[in-house]
Formats: sequence, C-alpha cells, structure tokens
Amino acid sequence: MDNSTRIDPWASQQSTDYARIRDQFGLGSIDVSRIPNPSMLHRRGIVFAHRDLDVVLGCMERSDPFGVLTGLMPSGKMHLGHSMVIDQVRWFQEQGADITVTVADLEALATRGTSLEKGRENAMTEYVHNYAALGLDPDSTNIYFQSSRPAVQRLAFTLGRKTNLSEFESIYGFKGDTNLAHVQAPLIQAGDIIHPQLEEFGGLRPIVVPVGVDQDPHLRLTRGIAGKTHWFNVKPRKNGGITVALSVQDGNKEIFGVSSNGRVDRTTRDGIFEKLKASIAPMGYSDFIPNPKHGTLDIPGAKVEDIAQVRMCVLSLERKLGGMGLMPPCSTYHRFAIGMTGDKMSSSQPETTIFMDDSIESMTKKVKKAYSGGQPTVEEHRIHGGDCSKDVAFQYLQFFFESDDAELTRIARDYESGRLLAGEIKQICIDRATEWLTDLSEKRDMWTDRLDEFLAPDAL
Ligand code: TRP
Repeated sequence: MDNSTRIDPWASQQSTDYARIRDQFGLGSIDVSRIPNPSMLHRRGIVFAHRDLDVVLGCMERSDPFGVLTGLMPSGKMHLGHSMVIDQVRWFQEQGADITVTVADLEALATRGTSLEKGRENAMTEYVHNYAALGLDPDSTNIYFQSSRPAVQRLAFTLGRKTNLSEFESIYGFKGDTNLAHVQAPLIQAGDIIHPQLEEFGGLRPIVVPVGVDQDPHLRLTRGIAGKTHWFNVKPRKNGGITVALSVQDGNKEIFGVSSNGRVDRTTRDGIFEKLKASIAPMGYSDFIPNPKHGTLDIPGAKVEDIAQVRMCVLSLERKLGGMGLMPPCSTYHRFAIGMTGDKMSSSQPETTIFMDDSIESMTKKVKKAYSGGQPTVEEHRIHGGDCSKDVAFQYLQFFFESDDAELTRIARDYESGRLLAGEIKQICIDRATEWLTDLSEKRDMWTDRLDEFLAPDAL
C-alpha cells in the first residue's frame, strides 16, 4: 500500500495527520460560514471534515426531515473524548434531527469479549446516564442495542451480499486468522447506519453519522454498499445538468423491461420512464432528454446541488417498485483531543483523560501533571511565551471547558505572550473543569431514575 494510510477502527493508535486523511479518503472540508448556529466544535475547526454534509444542511434550510445515527462501545468508561460526539448530536438535534444511538454490544462482544449483560449494564451507567446529563432531548432520542434489534441484523445479512472478503481485506486488513465475529461487526455497523431509513424506523430521509475519523472505513463501506443497491444512479452530466441512469440488476430486470434474452421491451421501459419523470416532477424541471434504450434520462436544467433531492425522488420510486431505496449516509468527523500526558487519550490509561465522573480532586491532579506548553523557567516563559498547540490545559479549555470564544482568545493571547504562566493556565482549566464536572454531576442526579425515557421500546 506504498505511502497510503489505512485507518484501523480497532487500533489503539490513530493517525492525527488530519489533512492527509482528508485528502487520501476524499473527505470534504467544513465551511463554517455555511453551518447554521455553529457550535463551538464547528467554530474552532474541531469538526474538520465530512461526507455529503451539504445534503443535511439542505434539509435544515428547507426544514425537511433528517436523522442522526451514532454509536457507542459499551466496553469502557465514558471520558471527555466520547462527549464530543454527543455535543454534535445535541447540535443536530437542535437543528431538527431525530436521533438514533446504537449500543454496539455485539461489536464489543466480537472485538473486546464484553458479554452482552455486562455491555448493557455498562452502556446504561456509563453512557446513557451521561448522554442525558449532556442535554440530549429524550423526546427525539432512541437508544437501542445491536443484539436486540433484528431489523439491524437482518439488514447486515442482506447488505453482506453487496460486498466480499477482498473488500474487507482492503478496507480493514482482515486476514485468514481474523475472528469471524469480528468480520461480522462492520456489516452490523452498516446495518446500524442504514436502518433508520427503513419504514418502521422513520422512513426514507438523509441520515448523518457524527464520528471520530477512525470510524470512516465503516462509512466508506456502507456508502459503497448503499450505492450498489441503487436501481437509479444520479450523476452530474458532462455538458451540464444531471443524468439519471437505470442500474439493471437481478431484482429489477423484469420491472425495467429486460427480458431473459437480454432484449429491452419498449412498452415496459417507456412505462418506467414515465414513472421516473413523474417522480422527479416535484423538482419542477421542464426539459427531459429520455433515452429509454440506453436507460438514461438527462435533465439539462438540473444543478449538481440538486442531486441529493433528485436522488430522494428516485429512491422513493425505487421503494415503490420493490427496491430497497437507500440513501448513502452522510458523516462528520472530529479531531481527537490529545491525552493529558501528551499521548493518546485512552480509557485503559486513566491518567491520559478525564472521566465523566472523575472527582474534582482526581481531575485537579491530572491537570496539574498534564503536559505543558510552557517554557522551562519563568524568565524564559515571560520572554518566549507558552505554546498553545502543545499545552493540554489550553486544549482542554478549547475542546471542552471554555465555550466563550472571546475568553478563549484572550487566554491564548496572554499565554502566548508570556503574561500567563503555565501554572496559571492550568488553574484556569481546573476552575472551568470544576464547574463543568459539577454541573454534569448535578444533571446526572436529575436523570438517575429516568434513563428509560431515552431507550427505544425494543431496549426496555
Ligand atoms: N464502532 C463504533 C465504535 O467503535 C461503535 C458503533 C457501532 C457505531 N455502530 C455504529 C458508531 C454506528 C457510529 C455509527 O465506537
């Protein structure tokens, strides 16, 4: 694989060369000016990349329905790093999204040996409780378990027909000795990501998946699979406009007028084209160039920005005709906060992170010991100033504890100019973190007996 990177979602070490990841995997950049009511993670470039986020932004503009799907591994304690996804989920929820959260209990069993019972208990006490305290609205939040949602498992199995071992080898690096439960985990995750579009879970609508960039391989897989199920492909047309092309496959040959000898039945084909045009009619285009023989319909007046909406139209037709009609998922990616020691944040090394239920004493100790961007002596610090890009206290203020941009800028300026000493910025961090953790703990107390409100009926 020469100089290209492979992202391993299960590795403990992740690449932090975000620009390179974005380029290599073709992720889009976030344009903050296009984000309504941007949250602090958006404003500060912490949410740094996406796939098809414009589709969801379009829904927000038009007040069209869209959903969020994200997931948690119920195998460890929840720490600050995990809270970033929930901050994004809450933001999407405020912009009108319905929320589905998967407890990846099958994945935790497959990849970490966590029993389903233990996974359930851990999910509730560590994650669901904190999600409530972080301010998710239970009215539009549905948390479910992979192990108790047959629709997800059925979908995983069905979607498995659209991929193969070679693809798993190239995306995940799976080998002959890879455990078969582990091999199933990505398909279950594809099932997680796709299933909110099923009729019984809210129906056809764009779904956005906010995750750390380590999860992108699953999105690549799922988007690829969704694309392969499509009966109609919607693409930009070379000389302007867009083209809708029939994708003839096993399930739709007859419906598309392809007889067993391969010949195209004109009457059937013309009928499909009429339906196709009718399905796109709400978009208001006047000019269509049908080529029933080749199975293409050109729409010269359509704009590339219309593709998502045209796709919704033809996916809904596909469903009426008997296809699955699956919208490829959208996604957003955040950077990882550095661990407190300067290494990676990890549940298995408590000194690298702050847990949601850390005591103030324990948090204080960790911040005091944290990696600093200050100079070795006060004299040098006054002259050269501190380095915010290395300083843990600063970065924790930036990622988590200081929501006021002006205040954060002031702290950065004072630190970099040497006016603020390393010990002083740590104290600011400790003060803000104390407020943050105390508030969270109070909110947790309010929710202790009400966690069921967040659970889907099949999770009760
Ligand atoms: N694999 C994810 C993790 O390691 C958990 C997960 C399972 C997930 N299904 C998901 C995340 C669907 C996002 C979307 O944390």
